[in-house]
Amino acid sequence: MADETKQQQSLQQLKDIVQPYFEVFRLYMNDLCEGFEPWQIIIVTFGLTVVLVWLKEFLFQDESLLERAKKFFFRNVRRLPMVKARIAAEIEKTRNDVEDNFNKGGTITYMKHLPKQGLSQEKLFRLIEDYRQLADVNWEKGHCSGTVYSGDPVLTDIATKVYGIFAWSNPLHSDVFPDVRKMEAEVVRMCCNMFHGGPDSCGNMTSGGTESILMACKTFRDRAYEKGIKFPEMLVPVTAHAAFDKAAHAFRIKIKHIPVDSFTMQVDVDAMKKAISRNTCMLVGSAPGFPHGIMDPIEEISKLGVKYDIPVHVDSCLGGFLVPFMDKAGFPLAPFDFRLPGVTSISADTHKYGYAPKGSSVVLYSNKNIRLYQYFVAPDWPGGIYATATLAGSRAGAIVAACWATMVYIGEQGYINSTRQIIQTRQYIEDGLRQIEGLFVYGKPSVSVIGFGSLDFNIYRLSDMLTSKGWNLNALQFPSSVHLCVTLLHTKPGVADHFLQEVRQCTAAILKDPNAKCGGMGAIYGMAQSIPDRSLVSEMVHCFLDGTTSTGPSTSNMTNGSTH
Ligand SMILES: *Cc1c(COP(=O)(O)O)cnc(C)c1O
Ligand SMILES: *[C@@H]1O[C@H](CO)[C@@H](O)[C@H](O)[C@H]1NC(C)=O
Ligand SMILES: *[C@@H]1O[C@H](CO)[C@@H](O)[C@H](O)[C@H]1NC(C)=O
Ligand SMILES: *[C@@H]1O[C@H](CO)[C@@H](O)[C@H](O)[C@H]1NC(C)=O
Ligand SMILES: *[C@@H]1O[C@H](CO)[C@@H](O)[C@H](O)[C@H]1NC(C)=O
Repeated sequence: MADETKQQQSLQQLKDIVQPYFEVFRLYMNDLCEGFEPWQIIIVTFGLTVVLVWLKEFLFQDESLLERAKKFFFRNVRRLPMVKARIAAEIEKTRNDVEDNFNKGGTITYMKHLPKQGLSQEKLFRLIEDYRQLADVNWEKGHCSGTVYSGDPVLTDIATKVYGIFAWSNPLHSDVFPDVRKMEAEVVRMCCNMFHGGPDSCGNMTSGGTESILMACKTFRDRAYEKGIKFPEMLVPVTAHAAFDKAAHAFRIKIKHIPVDSFTMQVDVDAMKKAISRNTCMLVGSAPGFPHGIMDPIEEISKLGVKYDIPVHVDSCLGGFLVPFMDKAGFPLAPFDFRLPGVTSISADTHKYGYAPKGSSVVLYSNKNIRLYQYFVAPDWPGGIYATATLAGSRAGAIVAACWATMVYIGEQGYINSTRQIIQTRQYIEDGLRQIEGLFVYGKPSVSVIGFGSLDFNIYRLSDMLTSKGWNLNALQFPSSVHLCVTLLHTKPGVADHFLQEVRQCTAAILKDPNAKCGGMGAIYGMAQSIPDRSLVSEMVHCFLDGTTSTGPSTSNMTNGSTH
């Protein structure tokens, strides 16, 4: 009772204080409106409101004002007839070069219609042998960075047999294919345990690392929506996989790229901390990252996640079947998985160092409540109540089965052994590269990838020269560098030495004339990094994507996009 009167008293006091100010405001406003008719006041107020809302929307968009100004500038520069013609000619040239490259100078003929009568098996397999003659990079000899992670003929045999048994299965119909459902659940459970998940940890299989990452991003976006965040943002190291950019694009999440330390190449956790806002829906760290194979400081990112109650996704797509076995292989690592309280999800690719056929990966969550946000349910569809856990509808049960069979065949000791071989080979090649004059290695690679560059010459010249000798490294940019991703194929006797010898020879040759111009792919990469108009780079790359489905020289002339 006493409290209530007290409250009333203080309210009265407040009124007494505010009243005189309000009086002044009232008189001032009425003075302002003196001489205007009410309709005028209404129109002006309405107009002003519209202008203010417009201004706010103009100023605060996903892209900063500067970004948009830049785009606007380039768009208009590109409208100038001279520039337009020049760009069209360049793009046309790129397109022709790419097609020519894919079509091997027009020597390839394509099947453009269904054969009227189906081929006999004999003819079919002869034809397939012809197709195989097109390949000229010899991955079997370990000449590729990454790409094929095992290539063991015994695994090929097992995978094809298992594929045959489950060729017609589709996990979408888990009632019809309970065997595949069991395998899928077991793959997920085995992976959860590899990453020290608790009893509540869970996950799903997907078609690959990209889909696993997309699912994690969708999950945390929807969690943010439920918490009332209208415009979720994710904080992602610049070195994290581009699949996060794809997710941002597909699911309308704002992505903020966090810089890495230029010496260690690890994400700058202080910068990440500063970038956290009330809109942040997830933090990302790579274990390890694709470009230079560096482990981000996951422990520190996890601490940020706990402190600010933000989910942390660990992208272990690349190293998902190496890092969990490194302790037992004799190369201890700091914790990077569900042992850390902040880590809420992990992506790991069974189709990389899990040695399963392409088309499988897992996304894991620390608990089941989070995974609910990943699901999609259409309860009103006339085709039935439709629900999927991941992006795909129908899926290949045979791929699930082949993945399960691969994991069960190799077993823990098998993975530990191959991890040991790969880490030892990476160390051996890394040491070798560090001794080659003119080259340096980025940061401290602790898993399977070695990123390297040069202060003395254009590093793309080295990768071009190696390409001409039948090697296939990955070109990286910002900064200009290349990497070798060590696979089981590089652990075979002599391969590492052969590689080092070739790099040594090429580097020595280049150092004789360190400032010579770079041609080929290297020139394209060098140029692409220096073009300020990034939309132009994208357009050039469209030519490559178009080229992959090219069946001979284009029949329509695709100049300046007019017939596109
Ligand atoms: C390969 C890779 C991915 C994406 O995996 P895909 O299977 O190619 O879709 C994601 N992150 C890292 C670090 C990777 O190396
Ligand atoms: C662009 O297309 C238009 C219309 O097809 C054509 O007239 C023009 O010559 C083309 N420009 C170039 C540079 O090819
Ligand atoms: C996702 O995982 C859960 C539990 O492991 C399982 O019940 C469900 O069928 C899975 N769905 C798909 C599409 O993988
Ligand atoms: C792993 O390596 C050890 C020692 O090198 C060997 O004895 C064992 O047979 C290997 N196991 C597998 C599964 O490859
Ligand atoms: C494409 O252009 C070339 C010359 O620029 C021309 O000879 C050819 O007829 C054109 N093809 C088509 C399909 O327009």
